[in-house]
Amino acid sequence: MKHIKHIIAICLIIVLYGCFDKKNNSSMIGIKEQILEEKVDSLLSLMTIEEKVGQMNQYNGFWDVTGPAPEEGNAELKYEHLKMGYIGSMLNVRGAEEVRKVQKIAVEESRLGIPLIIGFDVIHGYKTLSPIPLAEAASWDLTALEKSARIAAIEASASGINWTFAPMVDISRDPRWGRVMEGAGEDPFLGSAIAVARIKGFQGDDLSAPNTIAACAKHFAAYGFSEAGKEYNTVDIGTSTLHNIVFPPFKAAVDADVKTFMNAFNELNGVPATGNSYLQRDILKGKWDFNGFVVSDWASITEMIHWGHAKNKKEAAILAANAGSDMDMESYVYINELVRLVKEGAVKESIIDDAVKRILRVKFELGLFDDPYKYCNLENEKNNIGNPAHRAAALDMAKKSIVLLKNSTQLLPLKKEGQKIALIGALAADSNSPLGSWRIASDNNSAISVLEGMKKYTGNSLTYKKGTDVSIGNTEFIKHVNINTTDRSEFKDAISTAKKADVVVMVLGEHGFQSGEGRSRTKLDLPGLQQELLEEIYKVNKNIVLVLNNGRPLAIEWAAENIPTIVEAWQLGTETGNAVAQVIYGDYNPSGKLPMTFPRNVGQIPIYYNYKNTGRPIDKDNNVFWSHYLDVKNTPLYPFGHGLSYTTFEYSNFNLKESIYSINDTIKLSIDVTNTGNYDGKEVVQLYIRDLVASITRPVRELKGFELTALKIGETKTIHFNLNKETLGYYNNNGDFVIEPGDYKVFIGGSSTTKLERKFTLIN
Ligand code: NOJ
Repeated sequence: MKHIKHIIAICLIIVLYGCFDKKNNSSMIGIKEQILEEKVDSLLSLMTIEEKVGQMNQYNGFWDVTGPAPEEGNAELKYEHLKMGYIGSMLNVRGAEEVRKVQKIAVEESRLGIPLIIGFDVIHGYKTLSPIPLAEAASWDLTALEKSARIAAIEASASGINWTFAPMVDISRDPRWGRVMEGAGEDPFLGSAIAVARIKGFQGDDLSAPNTIAACAKHFAAYGFSEAGKEYNTVDIGTSTLHNIVFPPFKAAVDADVKTFMNAFNELNGVPATGNSYLQRDILKGKWDFNGFVVSDWASITEMIHWGHAKNKKEAAILAANAGSDMDMESYVYINELVRLVKEGAVKESIIDDAVKRILRVKFELGLFDDPYKYCNLENEKNNIGNPAHRAAALDMAKKSIVLLKNSTQLLPLKKEGQKIALIGALAADSNSPLGSWRIASDNNSAISVLEGMKKYTGNSLTYKKGTDVSIGNTEFIKHVNINTTDRSEFKDAISTAKKADVVVMVLGEHGFQSGEGRSRTKLDLPGLQQELLEEIYKVNKNIVLVLNNGRPLAIEWAAENIPTIVEAWQLGTETGNAVAQVIYGDYNPSGKLPMTFPRNVGQIPIYYNYKNTGRPIDKDNNVFWSHYLDVKNTPLYPFGHGLSYTTFEYSNFNLKESIYSINDTIKLSIDVTNTGNYDGKEVVQLYIRDLVASITRPVRELKGFELTALKIGETKTIHFNLNKETLGYYNNNGDFVIEPGDYKVFIGGSSTTKLERKFTLIN
């Protein structure tokens, strides 16, 4: 370590001299970058090939696992490799003291003392959990999203972690895929904005500060398009979808200076993402000029053997390294194969050097060489983890994430006194499920349940009955959840309680472990006997408020038709019960909007708002030959962007000055939004476009702007939007961004189905 500092100090003097000599030719940023490059180069020049490959090697820690554990890699080997400088990073080591232990070996016992970068899945919080990412996305509140990631970074960094494997920016149109809970939904525009907010939150303005951490845009690329929503499956999509739907949030992440990328388990058009040099070299590191590093996903390098893309581990190592996967997470192939492969000439040393430089660069930027123990302060850990201010922010985020799907008889908000409330459903009393499936650093059963939250409102009588189980069996992180209960023994009690109640609040849906990685489903109904219970209760009392808990859109057509009030409450993290109670009692007026379409049934999937019109979009002649199903409508159950409020909003004065614009113009639009109801509230005003005729057909609607605005009762605000080249163009099938003259429609309103539209023509 001392040795490195000495060499680096000399380099610094040389570089600074060089910079000042150029008499202000470079900006300060340029100088900083130059200094950084010098530091990296000088360290690289000291390294043996074994030490270089060591930097490209990432091992899991000693206790938690977040993937199938490989046979190799016992603790003894890991300690040995730490001492030899053969590990660049560890994941799943946590706690200031534990991280200090491994860091100390790397820094004080290895020859060059290069510090480790410590990774962890800080997905929606660390110990204090915010809502699952899909739920947070429903807030459309970029400030709150950034703050949520900021708090996650503060807690994680206080626990020794300096790198999160988040945000997941995979766009997905398939709710059968369990990981939709981890993303921002189906739309590339919203997804890009949220990716940027999360990256800013994690990385802050100064990555070297002790409470900021490096972010990781994952999974590059197209994992969200896994065929049939089946986990780890093949992906075969065309150029237009790849460039216009999948890539934009990743590109936005690069532009927001994300420090790392993770590749993906899936293959893309026949080539596994991990060994895909088109993705990693041509696009990411080439076209987008990304200068951070790419980590593989867990064992995804060896998995290329199962894909039938690599013959053996040796070949897998060659393919991955050449394709631009810089760090090997838990495949053990870089550490076992790469040195030999370089010596044999099968992998060029320049490939290794490039990867190592990328990794060292991030370590320097994190300030790990200045103080490798900066994240290992016990006092800091004690003060920050689970801090009450973090819980308050988690509660705020949870309320903002709730979407009111239906309130046809104004059952909500509930009256605060004089009512008999029956609360039914196993999830209502569950303090574990709301934590979701990404929660390793949190304590089991640490969420406020809905029952606990509702008990705080003492003006009504509240009786709780379980009715049926949502999950039985083992709910540990890596185990399956059994949802096949047949036990109706508690139905009777629940039904008789419901019969006597003024209002029945039913908390139904998926357990937190029923979505997330490895949790694909083919049915999107209410698991187990919950649907049956709902229908039985409905027979005795129609005043039902259905509170949904779920990590993905559900197909709940019967409920949408029959139940008067439906609240989408996802899995809302630590403060779940308080958030739900405050919303249903009207202390918080919901403003969330769906970031993903809810299908009527699974057969409609993939269903999304930005579909193509087809050649036969309408049933003009009332005959069979048009694009539709015989057994279900084309429309979704709830569209993207949908979400109600306890108040009502009216739109007027949609203002678009001209009817013709030139391609280089900034097109200014505005609309007035008035709160016409009886509650103060917030509305997400959304702007969509349609390019009517294009060389590559364009979707019927594309989100190109949104603004969350608060309006007091009776208040009117004018909301302004701009459209320009960037928002009106698209990627053609060569991957080039183009803007074409022609006719466009623009729509503004409170959901993707708004009917308010204007038209304009774009000319050269
Ligand atoms: C596999 C997941 O796909 C990835 O998202 C995660 O970061 C790693 N495991 C590490 O836990």
